Amino acid sequence: MKVVAIVGSIRRDSYNLQLAKHVQKRYADQFDVEVLDLAPLPMYNQDIELDPPQEVIDFKAKVKEADAVLWVTPEYNASIPGVLGNAIDWLSRVEKVMIGKPSIIMGSSMGILGSVKAQMHLRDILFAAGLQSPVLGGNEVYVGAVHEKFDTEGHLTDEATIAFLDGVIANFQEWMKRYI
Ligand code: FNR
Repeated sequence: MKVVAIVGSIRRDSYNLQLAKHVQKRYADQFDVEVLDLAPLPMYNQDIELDPPQEVIDFKAKVKEADAVLWVTPEYNASIPGVLGNAIDWLSRVEKVMIGKPSIIMGSSMGILGSVKAQMHLRDILFAAGLQSPVLGGNEVYVGAVHEKFDTEGHLTDEATIAFLDGVIANFQEWMKRYI
């Protein structure tokens, strides 16, 4: 099964990117996870949506080909980061590649709430007309105090989080079969 990971931070040392890479590595025998880079995407502009730049075409093609999308997001100002909103705007227009495609949401922050508000907003956004992506229910992954859970090399070291993710991914694996 092919999964694309869309990470709401383009920071080089992003904890959310590290979380996506943990999933990519640990469950490599179950999914082929490709982490997509949002940095090259231009700002969404309706004037160019019918003839978008190659970066947008390539990004949408990768999402279209995937069996599912893993969203991994930090929280910016109590919601999703602009870079993530921008990617979503591209995905939601013209060829609406998210319609019917299953999603799983996770995220992290240095605070204790682990990006809960951003994830709640993202879940709502994925129900919008241009997206209509079924999202795994329950199994919510809020990695709070994330800076204490990864080592300086970017490895997840918190045993409780690792074990919790094992359960969530097993549930996701079972659930997503309905949609592919
Ligand atoms: C933040 N951060 C943050 N954290 C949080 O829990 N709630 C919030 O509303 C915000 N708002 C916010 C706004 C902006 C502009 C920045 C740059 C940061 C902190 C943020 O969660 C933290 O920097 C994460 O580590 C960012 O994720 P990555 O880049 O490590 O993946």
